[in-house]
Amino acid sequence: MPKLPAVRNIPSILRNRRSGELGEPNWIDQLHAKVVGQTEGLASVVPYVQMYQAGLAPQGRPVGVFLLLGPTGTGKTRTVEALAEVLHGSAKHVLRIDCGEFQMEHEVAKLIGAPPGYLGHRETQPMLTQMKLNAVTSEKLNLSIVLFDEIEKAAGSMTRLLLGVLDKATLRLGDNTSVNFDRSLIFMTSNLGAREMARAMTPDFGFEAMVTDNIATTGSSGANKLEAVCLAAVKRKFSPEFINRVDVMATYHPLGRTSMEQILDQQLTILQDHIDRRLAERSFKISVPKSAREFLLNKGTSKEYGARELKRVIHRFVMQPLAAMVSDGQIEADSEVVLEVDAGRERLILRPTQRAA
Ligand SMILES: Nc1ncnc2c1ncn2[C@@H]1O[C@H](COP(=O)(O)OP(=O)(O)OP(=O)(O)O)[C@@H](O)[C@H]1O
Ligand SMILES: [Mg+2]
Repeated sequence: MPKLPAVRNIPSILRNRRSGELGEPNWIDQLHAKVVGQTEGLASVVPYVQMYQAGLAPQGRPVGVFLLLGPTGTGKTRTVEALAEVLHGSAKHVLRIDCGEFQMEHEVAKLIGAPPGYLGHRETQPMLTQMKLNAVTSEKLNLSIVLFDEIEKAAGSMTRLLLGVLDKATLRLGDNTSVNFDRSLIFMTSNLGAREMARAMTPDFGFEAMVTDNIATTGSSGANKLEAVCLAAVKRKFSPEFINRVDVMATYHPLGRTSMEQILDQQLTILQDHIDRRLAERSFKISVPKSAREFLLNKGTSKEYGARELKRVIHRFVMQPLAAMVSDGQIEADSEVVLEVDAGRERLILRPTQRAA
């Protein structure tokens, strides 16, 4: 069924209220629950969505242009996925452009398609078409989320092309048709400045304080210093015209202990859901006592890789041994598997116990 055009003059917040879907204000709470410890970054995105929902977003330009900065594994890409989940119901509703694929000047043709008559005109399917943009909207909301991931890797020709998109919300394709972005949120993520950030986080700068508590919540001058470091790196890389077209530049902070604890809980819940869904009647419960949680947190806390390390540690110490035990038939349906820290504190022992009826 063809998608109906968005009716600009009926504020979508009213339509949503009627349909009882997006009008629920808790999409904001849901977003904060999904992306932990980056309150300021998330809060800067929300008003742009609300402006669109209220029918008050300016025309002739994208609904919002965001540059998410900060160290690896702190939730930049996750923010965009989580926004798609709460607004559209699935992280698949993101048109994602991996800028690492556009490092050479000539590769931009993959994005917009080669002009007629040029070599490869017929073979190159542009990655950014109106159809692809429309395909990431949903019944819930006629708004496309576009992600240019790792923008610092893009060739200069791509950033120049982006200027027009950010400014006028249009992109001219190789075949001379144009793509309209004025019902889009445009996210760009980047690690720019992350190395300098890591250097700034020397013990005397107070990294120890940060890992026990989120700097975002302490509001320390450390947070401002990290922002300044990122901004300086952005200014070195991008032209003032480009920077001027960004509505919000948000710096994601290294995740503190409290955030890591919450992310561990999230990951364990995801793991349990996965077991329940995939194994159905053969499923079992995993039980993670405090000592095992601490083991996972200690092994998975990394200044260098953020929450990525925690995910890897869960994979290595929980998922992989669990999978081996399941395939060996060592875990009975409806039992409980308790995670115990081994005496050498180098691994977890997974102990299946029959649950009391
Ligand atoms: N703040 C967070 N809240 C919840 N989960 C997080 C958070 N940060 C990271 N994660 C978890 O770690 C994974 C990796 O994070 P993400 O992809 O957002 O990193 P990133 O900041 O985009 O890093 P990079 O610069 O390397 O792309 C996510 O898929 C998510 O599971
Ligand atoms: Mg990322």
